[in-house]
Order: sequence, then structure tokens, then C-alpha cells
Amino acid sequence: MADSPLEPSSPTRLPWLVGGSQVVGLACVVITGVWMGHYRGGYAWDGSSKQFNVHPLCMVIGLVFLYGDAILVYRVFRNESKRVAKILHGIIHLISLIISIVGFVSVFGFHAKANIPDMYSLHSWCGMLTFVVFCIQWLMGLTIFLFPGASPALRSWYLSLHVFFGLALFILAIATCLLGIKEKLLFSIMATYSKFVPEGVLANVLGLLLLVFGGLVGYILTRDEFKRPPHPEEEALSMHFKTLTEGESPNSP
Ligand code: HEM
Repeated sequence: MADSPLEPSSPTRLPWLVGGSQVVGLACVVITGVWMGHYRGGYAWDGSSKQFNVHPLCMVIGLVFLYGDAILVYRVFRNESKRVAKILHGIIHLISLIISIVGFVSVFGFHAKANIPDMYSLHSWCGMLTFVVFCIQWLMGLTIFLFPGASPALRSWYLSLHVFFGLALFILAIATCLLGIKEKLLFSIMATYSKFVPEGVLANVLGLLLLVFGGLVGYILTRDEFKRPPHPEEEALSMHFKTLTEGESPNSP
């Protein structure tokens, strides 16, 4: 039976899908950590290749795992007030932004110290695009949705753009990771990649799991049955807004 729109609802498949996405997302983080930590010599902040290793780890944590979780907030906390969900969405995005900045600084610092040219690869162009759009999206979201000054008309106009760019960015971040993984493999194990060496297989598995994570998050986000049910106070607000904008009586059919 369908849930009543005004009562808390919890589709039974949702917790399993969300749980599955978290297992896969954490596996991506652990595999990236093991790849850079075990096969590529570990981590440091000294301009060496160990500083580069911070880059993939931060990007997978910040722009894939945490970003994915931030966009799932409205589905996971579908029965909490919208304000709570909004604040959590903004905070997880902020953490994701900070971690991504660390990942950016690490790779640019490494290139500077090793005299490697910047921004020549397709990976770096897609990465820069992801990062710039992410910053714009975060600032626009903060000003339009979190601060009280924006009008309801502006908010509802911007919402569809915010949702579109939010999902587009997530797809772009995963595509950028795949390009980065491929590039790193060619730099590091070009001679042995075709021999199915463990490092190559591990990195290929990472690429596939990133796609599975993206698929799970995308599926949860786009299913109608997982969307937030209208809450009584939000219903009242949208009725009030409809009355103001369309001149309808809240009780008219
Ligand atoms: C969404 C995630 C990612 C973003 C936004 C991103 C962004 C970037 C950017 C902007 C650069 C250029 C730095 C410069 O020119 O000095 C770069 C370099 C690099 N990244 Fe990523 N990256 C991401 C994930 C990854 C991952 C998962 C790997 C896998 C190992 C990786 C591997 C590399 C490599 C090998 C370079 C150096 C070569 C180059 O400049 O293309 N990246 N990344």
C-alpha cells in the first residue's frame, strides 16, 4: 500500500540500497588508500611523489564519496524537517570542498616541485571544470537556499538547475577519476599493466566500484518512491506560496 503523504514513510528497499552504496563507497576509499599507500610508497607533504599520493585519496573521499553522501541526504533523512536536511547537505558539501582543496594543493605542489607542466591533460581539464562548477554550485546553493533573503520564486526557479548541476557534477567527478586512474597506471606501470599485475587489477577494480557507487547513488536519487514525502508544515507553506503567486484560495480544488 502507498504511504500517506502526510505520515512518515520508509520504503523498505531504501535502507538496503543506501547501506549498499556506503559499503561500495567506503571500499573505493580503502582501495585508493591501499593503492597509494602500499603500491605507490605512502603519503608525505614534501613535494615528492608521496605528496602526489594525497591527491587521488582526497579526490575520491571529497568529490565522490562525501559528495555522493551529501546528495543522498534528502533521501536518507526524508522524514526529518527540510531545514535539518538542508543544513546537513551544506555541511557535508563543505567538508567535501575542504578535502578536495587539499587534494588540489597536493597535486599542484607536487608538479611545481618536480617541474611538471600544469593542466596539460584531459584529466586535469575535466578535474578543473568539476572543481570550478562545484565551487559555484556550493556558493549559489548557500546564498539562495540557506540564507533567508531569497524569494520563494527565485528558490523554486533555481532548484531545478541546482538538481541538474548537482547530478551532472557527480557524474563528471566519477568520469574524471576514471581518467586519472588510467593516467596514473600508464605513468607508473605502463610496461607491466598488460600482464595483469596486482596493482593494475586493483586500480581497475577501483574504477568499476566507482561506477557502481555512482549507479547506486543515481538510482536512489532518481526513483520517485524515495523522494521526500510532503511534510505538513511544508505543505502549508507551499499552499501559502501558491495562494500568493496564483491568487488561489488554499481550499480551492
Ligand atoms: C574528481 C576527482 C579528481 C579531480 C577533480 C582531479 C583534478 C586534477 C587536476 C586539476 C590535475 C592537474 C594538476 C596540475 O596540472 O598541476 C590533476 C592531476 C593528476 N591527477 Fe587528478 N583529479 C581527480 C582524481 C584523480 C584520481 C582518482 C586519480 C588517480 C590516481 C588522479 C590522478 C592524477 C594524475 C596522475 C595527475 C597528474 C597528471 C595530470 O596533470 O593529469 N586524479 N588532477
